[in-house]
Amino acid sequence: MNSEWMSQLKESGQQHLLQYFEALDEGSQARLLEQFREINFPLVQDLFGKFGQADEWGELARQAEPPAAIRLQGSPNGFASRDEAMQRGEEAIANGEVGMVMVAGGQGSRLGFAHPKGLFPIGPVSGRTLLQIHIDKLKSINDKYGSSIPLYVMTSPATHHETTDFLERNQWFGYPTEHTAIFCQGTMPAVDAETGRMIMAERDQLFLSPDGHGGMLSALTKSGSLNDMKLRGIEQIFYCQIDNPLAQICDPVTIGHHVLAASEMTCQAVPKREPLQKVGNIVSIEGRTQIIEYSDLPEAVARKTNPDGTLMLWAGSIAVHVIDVAFLDRMTEYADALPFHLAHKKVPFLNSEGVLIEPSEPNALKFERFIFDLLPQAKQAIVIEVDPQEAFSPVKNAPTEKSNTALTAQQAMIAQATRVLAGAEVTVAEGVAVEMHPALAIDQERLAIALQGQKHIVEPTYFQ
Ligand code: UD1
Repeated sequence: MNSEWMSQLKESGQQHLLQYFEALDEGSQARLLEQFREINFPLVQDLFGKFGQADEWGELARQAEPPAAIRLQGSPNGFASRDEAMQRGEEAIANGEVGMVMVAGGQGSRLGFAHPKGLFPIGPVSGRTLLQIHIDKLKSINDKYGSSIPLYVMTSPATHHETTDFLERNQWFGYPTEHTAIFCQGTMPAVDAETGRMIMAERDQLFLSPDGHGGMLSALTKSGSLNDMKLRGIEQIFYCQIDNPLAQICDPVTIGHHVLAASEMTCQAVPKREPLQKVGNIVSIEGRTQIIEYSDLPEAVARKTNPDGTLMLWAGSIAVHVIDVAFLDRMTEYADALPFHLAHKKVPFLNSEGVLIEPSEPNALKFERFIFDLLPQAKQAIVIEVDPQEAFSPVKNAPTEKSNTALTAQQAMIAQATRVLAGAEVTVAEGVAVEMHPALAIDQERLAIALQGQKHIVEPTYFQ
């Protein structure tokens, strides 16, 4: 046995990882050692030491104020007008300053879908998958502005092969492949919540889980994608999550405001429907914009209201950002740019007899980084309010839940298409599903052609 590993593991209290080592064949031994090489043992030890300490927000959260924001109704002075922002955003896209990062590391398990979420068929009439819907939007933007926005898709080990295979089989839904890249985020070991010992999934394998969407920072560097952005002259990336079919991909107004305000990281926000809505809270603390996850915001703070009764911390994050590439680059040099968050979860583990046990209660700690934790590092960060009807309806929950289900997302897509049709003086019969290719939603001439003179829609229709 490799004595160097033996002493290192002993030092960090992880010698149990070698429990089955001698009995493994050579291939399995090599595989386990390979996993060890990827792990920062002192870091994991340090993170475990933080478990159970006072919650990280505590007092700070009580100082949270609403962020300065460009609201839909009236904005603070000093920001550009919507028209100016639109013009600058269109220019940035047409000039090739913008790239797109889609994070697709999540499985559809909460939806009861045993595949990567990106493969979930969400189109209410077309059955298009989440991935295709986003790609269609990006293609429409390219058509409109004559651009070739590079698309970087981030997967996790759980979604990488299936997503890559799916995109290749479907030839990236017509997206020019010289402008696409797919890269996989990293992982972190999970540890037993009582002992801090890393959990083994098999005799030759640790239990590893994705390192959170904040893993994007190091994965962009490792995969060469950050370098690729720089070589292409990309100055801003438009970031969004795979689970929101309403995401306004590469919205020129958001990009324009971001550039004109010299923002290093911009957030789209929606007014929260209720104090405890499960979205990140975009706040300002000591003059710095940050996001406090719903699970971390004390209820009393979440419920604070203004004199007119509206929510004080109104700004819900929809996880859509524009991020300055030079800022990202600077952050990659700074190892502690993103803290780890601890999640207490149920993780199956090998017991000392080598039997896999399914725990009935949370037994383990998982470690994740969140990309939005870069916000306080930004020299300038702005918040832009968007209309949730037009920009946010994520697919997260099982059909038995009330919100954020496939059904609520489809209803939102149908309502959006119905509004576009209403703008063209076309009505839709009650209860009839309509869906629209994004190219038609932004181009009235194409919409008129697709409509073929129809004024009232009585059958489910996908306009394309
Ligand atoms: C997330 C945000 C929340 C925001 C909400 C909007 C976090 C911690 N919270 O909540 O502030 O209001 O979205 O919908 O992000 N992903 C990866 N790799 C990972 C983890 C996640 O790619 O390691 C991707 C998933 O594919 C998914 C997205 O990130 O698309 C969101 O992750 P999820 O864990 O579902 O976060 P939410 O609780 O939905």
